[in-house]
Amino acid sequence: MKRIVPSPEERRLYNQYQWVWDMIGTIEDYEKLARYIAGRIRKHENLKTKNILHLGCGSGCLDHHLKGQFTITGVDISEKMLESARLKNPECEYIQGDMKDFETDGVFDAVIIPESINYILSKEHIGNVFKNAKTPLKKDGLLLVIVGYDPENFPQDRTTVERVTNKNKAIELTFIENNYTAYPQSNSFEATFVFLIRIQGKLEIKTDIHSLGLFEKETFADEMTKAGFKACFIEDQYLEEIEQKGAYLLVGKSFA
Ligand SMILES: C[S@@+](CC[C@H](N)C(=O)[O-])C[C@H]1O[C@@H](n2cnc3c(N)ncnc32)[C@H](O)[C@@H]1O
Repeated sequence: MKRIVPSPEERRLYNQYQWVWDMIGTIEDYEKLARYIAGRIRKHENLKTKNILHLGCGSGCLDHHLKGQFTITGVDISEKMLESARLKNPECEYIQGDMKDFETDGVFDAVIIPESINYILSKEHIGNVFKNAKTPLKKDGLLLVIVGYDPENFPQDRTTVERVTNKNKAIELTFIENNYTAYPQSNSFEATFVFLIRIQGKLEIKTDIHSLGLFEKETFADEMTKAGFKACFIEDQYLEEIEQKGAYLLVGKSFA
């Protein structure tokens, strides 16, 4: 399958409808994932981790939980997501940038990439992300990547439906997501979204499409090794319960 050329309207969920993202993924929803990440950092660190670079930080829900233990710098491609992150976490630093191609003056004990590496669509670009993660890391620093989707366990043509309402029930949202791939002909998949938004009962229907990468574990490990990390995979049921079946953690230890 040829990759669908992203339209300028793609990823409205993060740009035009960022508030929809905040309704389906609340601060409370991120507590378990934050605990998991903090625990894994403590388990694998060689340095006592104090400051973290969070690539693809989104709207700051995860950082809200991590900032008690760590100093966080977040990078995201979407200015709208960053606006929301700054409101939630004024004590964190947020920088607009593409994780494939950014520079920072900071020096970090750990870099985390949770739930966003699948936005990288080529092996070469995955390599660039890991090299960019390595540059500001201290020697013996840690790279943690949560890979959400794996070709072996891909939920082909799965459709999920979630319903949420805001506090005063003025907004009712039905969030429909479908995942579809032509793997192995293609190393990508489409996440297609339909939002049924009822504001004071009045219906609006919105759509969105995200093109995401679908690469084998070995591809991630090879690119991590080439970027100067010792890589290992951790598959655990707890992470699959928080994320979805097939999600795993990739840990890289910077050795130079
Ligand atoms: C699913 S959200 C994850 C948010 C956050 N990591 C978390 O766990 O709460 C994915 C985020 O990745 C960001 N993103 C996608 N491609 C990116 C890129 N090339 N560089 C930086 N951020 C990117 C999106 O804007 C979005 O905010």
